[in-house]
Amino acid sequence: MPEHPIDPASLVDIARYPLDNPQDDRYCKALSLIRARLEQDGCAVIPGFLSSRGLSHLLDEAQERRALAYFSANKKTNVYFSSDDASLAEDHPRRIFLERTNGFITSDCYDDSTASRALYYWPALMKFIQDCLGKDQLYIYDDPVSNMIVNVLTPGSQFNWHFDTNEFTITMLLKSAASGGHFEYAPNLRNAEDECYEDVRAVLSGDARQVTRLKLAPGDLQLFLGRFSLHRVTKNTGPSDRLLLIMSFAEKPGMIGSVERTRELYGKVTDAHLEAQAQRVRADSLMD
Ligand SMILES: [Fe+2]
Repeated sequence: MPEHPIDPASLVDIARYPLDNPQDDRYCKALSLIRARLEQDGCAVIPGFLSSRGLSHLLDEAQERRALAYFSANKKTNVYFSSDDASLAEDHPRRIFLERTNGFITSDCYDDSTASRALYYWPALMKFIQDCLGKDQLYIYDDPVSNMIVNVLTPGSQFNWHFDTNEFTITMLLKSAASGGHFEYAPNLRNAEDECYEDVRAVLSGDARQVTRLKLAPGDLQLFLGRFSLHRVTKNTGPSDRLLLIMSFAEKPGMIGSVERTRELYGKVTDAHLEAQAQRVRADSLMD
């Protein structure tokens, strides 16, 4: 664990959310509210999670690194990130491809002296996330490029409808779009047994009856279970970037992204990615 000169507790509104004291009534109360929200529709917002000092620190760090953001080529994807299947009807959700813009400031742009890293590596934060999600043990995601990143939604960009492949996402909004750039979701639109294609098709064709628009302010922490809830970020119609800090935690130690996906999304890989890939290949060949 790196040594940090910044006290991570100062970055959080600790009077409201005493992460350093899980026995505190306010901690327990926050936890039961969050769990109820996650249970209800897979989305919980913890308003004003960051202190004003924390928010300005994290925002400054993101903006200082803005020029380093990597933007992958605009790609059209369906909501499942799968390839086209010509055997299906043309209006089948698996055949509807929407534009998506990806821009990220990656983890390697931050060093151990930054407030962002101090917060990410703070054991009390991980314990809080574990408690919220009801997990026995989480780990820092070991990927040196993508474990703590800032999503940059530039003017005119959007992140279109999709389901997540990962079970949960932990984000902190650092800067809203002046207009547009809203997080919207259709809670539990599918389930483990049923893709519910008709409901997905309805949302994709503009039916908003099952869609919730989230009220999200800079400094809020959002926990989102995106496997079953279709979601998007609407087009940023303002003149400046929307900035979102994303912190990833894993359920097993030593997890790292694949070479192919890391290169596609972030434009770079490290020796750690190549080594992990080589080990996967070796492990696979042993099992064949
Ligand atoms: Fe997502």
